[in-house]
Order: sequence, then structure tokens, then C-alpha cells
Amino acid sequence: MPDVIAIVGGSGALGGGLARRCARAGLEVVIGSRDRARAEQAAASLLADMPHASVRGTDNSAAAALGDIVVVTVPFANQASILDEIGPRLAGKLVVDTTVPLMPPKVGRVQLPPAGSAALAARERLGEEIALVTAFHNLSAEKLGAEGDPGCDILVFGDDKDARERLIDLTTRLGLRGLHGGPLANAVAAEAMTSVLIAINRRYKVPGGAGLRITGLG
Ligand SMILES: NC(=O)c1ccc[n+]([C@@H]2O[C@H](COP(=O)([O-])OP(=O)(O)OC[C@H]3O[C@@H](n4cnc5c(N)ncnc54)[C@H](OP(=O)(O)O)[C@@H]3O)[C@@H](O)[C@H]2O)c1
Repeated sequence: MPDVIAIVGGSGALGGGLARRCARAGLEVVIGSRDRARAEQAAASLLADMPHASVRGTDNSAAAALGDIVVVTVPFANQASILDEIGPRLAGKLVVDTTVPLMPPKVGRVQLPPAGSAALAARERLGEEIALVTAFHNLSAEKLGAEGDPGCDILVFGDDKDARERLIDLTTRLGLRGLHGGPLANAVAAEAMTSVLIAINRRYKVPGGAGLRITGLG
């Protein structure tokens, strides 16, 4: 049976792009929001484009409870409160945190949080028992939602190799190339790179957003 993908904050830009790509790939998607009606609306809008897709919307906690893989796509300022809220629903699931510690208005400047990175902040919040990886820091919501190969890689970080492998399998099913980026301690590099990509997007006006491609892998 395919995994059920729950997307907490899935009414937003990155979560919406991921929901669209997952739905197109035939996966079962549950969109979460603080407002159940907003999640239902986001699901209805995807279904209008893809009537045969399996997508529904509900509140964030219910979505987390339904997912086998729970992807967190909320702004850094809300990461801690959302993880506290859904934490009791996460036992036995794979949690994928996409948070980049952007601190508006200077989002084109690297600013790291006291924990060292959003990944390490998530680990502190969730504890060691929950399987946690982080990913999708360097892919724009637009490219994530679009059809086809975005032409860039998804670096996947986590202290458990099998957990990383599970997300990399998912990226393959989604037509993306996921790569092992090493332990959670390494995620700071991809989180910081997002601000570099934002600065590049601004300077060079990159259509759809710049991304990263690791060369030399064959
Ligand atoms: N956008 C990108 O291209 C991109 C690329 C790479 C990484 N990221 C990272 O992915 C994460 C999501 O980015 P995004 O651009 O999708 O953000 P977003 O659209 O601004 O927000 C995503 C969702 O978060 C929820 N949210 C907003 N305020 C909240 C709060 N106070 N408490 C709980 N939930 C709240 C909202 O859902 P409801 O109002 O429906 O609850 C919103 O739809 C961020 O950490 C970002 O750095 C984004």
C-alpha cells in the first residue's frame, strides 16, 4: 500500500506544491491547516484539477494522525508551536521538516536560530523517539508543484539512514532526485543555502527560482 502523506500547513506555498506533486503521482494526500475549512478548500481546488486524485483536507492534528509520512511546511516562527501541537500524533511515523529559519524581512541573509538550525530545533522539540528527517529547503514551491523534473536535487538530512532512505524513495516516486545529505547536524548548510538562493533569485530574476544540483554522481 502506498504511504499516506500528511502535509501540515499544506494550505501554503511549499505544502501546496508538495500536495500537488504527490496527488499527481497517485499518492494519498491529507492537507492540514489550523482551519479545517481552509484545508478542505485547498483539497477541493486540487481535486478540481485532478478529479481522480486522493486528496482531503482537515485540521493539522487530524492530518498528522492520518499520515504515515508527516511533512511540516510552516514558517520558522511557527515551527515550535506546530510541533508541540502535532507531537502527540507522531509516534511510529516519519516526520519530514521543511523549515528554513528565515527571519523576515531580511530573508536573503543567513540568520541561524539559537539551536543552530531549524533541524536541530525540531529534534529538540520532538525528542529522540520520533523518526525525523529534513528536506526540500532548496526547491521552490513553484518548481515542486510543477510537472516534470525541476532540474535540481533534494538534500535529505537525518540521523537515521533508513529514515533518510524512506524519504529518498518518496522523492523518486515524485519524479525528484533525493540525495543523502548526512546527519541532522548538516541540515544547517541547506537551510543557509536557501537565503543564498533567495539572493540569487533577486539578483538574476530566476524564473521559478534557482535550485541546487550536485554534480559528479553519474
Ligand atoms: N515557499 C518556498 O518556496 C519554500 C522553499 C523551501 C522551503 N520553504 C520553507 O517551507 C516552510 C513553509 O513555507 P511556505 O512558503 O509554504 O510558507 P507559507 O505559505 O507562508 O505558510 C505555510 C502555512 O503555514 C501555516 N501557518 C502560517 N502561520 C502559522 C502559525 N502562526 N501557526 C501555524 N501555522 C501557520 C499556514 O497554514 P494555515 O493558515 O492554513 O494554518 C500557511 O498556509 C517555511 O519554513 C519555508 O522556509 C519554503
